[in-house]
Amino acid sequence: MITAMRPVIVAANWKMHTTPADAGELARTIARRTADADVVRIVCPPFVALAAVRDALADAAPPIAVGAQNVHHELHGAFTGEVSAPMLAGLATWVIVGHSERRRDAGETDMLVGRKIGRAVEAGLRPILCVGEQHNERDAGLAEAVVDAQVRGALGTHDAAVLEAGGLVVAYEPVWAIGTGHTARGADASDMADGIRRTVADLGWADGGAGLPILYGGSVTSANIAEFLAEPAIDGALVGGASLQPDEMAGIVARAAMTARARLDPIATG
Ligand code: PGA
Repeated sequence: MITAMRPVIVAANWKMHTTPADAGELARTIARRTADADVVRIVCPPFVALAAVRDALADAAPPIAVGAQNVHHELHGAFTGEVSAPMLAGLATWVIVGHSERRRDAGETDMLVGRKIGRAVEAGLRPILCVGEQHNERDAGLAEAVVDAQVRGALGTHDAAVLEAGGLVVAYEPVWAIGTGHTARGADASDMADGIRRTVADLGWADGGAGLPILYGGSVTSANIAEFLAEPAIDGALVGGASLQPDEMAGIVARAAMTARARLDPIATG
């Protein structure tokens, strides 16, 4: 079964929430409440809280990874307020790239997002590339075309084998579902994941993109995560608002762990 090759991943995007002190405490609580070796867990606090979260999670067992929420497309220079990939060494092992809030507020284009992906991979950071359509684009039947263009725009200039080796993950996050309480339907997210794998296959990925983990994001909670994980094409979630609540994270990761075990051993777990 092809999905058995891919990990189940739950990534927490804390956005512009938590002070360093709050973040360390919250990370410790979440690590304890979600301790499950079958799920890849990632916590992405604000830049200023990365060191505190790294330290708070240093002894976590099983380990839980730390991610940044953004990275600059240059290595260094006169870019006031920015943070480059080499600066994240020792602080993070993952980085979210191209989140729709940054596309909206910081004017990030697909080309810029692509350069960020390159910097992340060069620095040994695993990128989570965010893509997703606006509501009017879905209504117009353009959702798949929009996401296809975003994936091509961000990844098309890179060597597919380098991105595969760099551990790229894609998060499908329909913009209208982020922070709204409205989610995509599981079947629509699955269709989109299939489309994203077709796109990366066209860009040269091995095995029709079968090795590419794809997450769903947009108003994920412990109450709705099952609908997405029921889709074999979906490998986990990028969670915003609910990821600040330990009870929610406990529920989401518990469900993800069931999926991970079922995919590893479909006969034993039914
Ligand atoms: P949300 O955010 O879960 O609060 O909708 C998801 C995201 O922006 O990654």
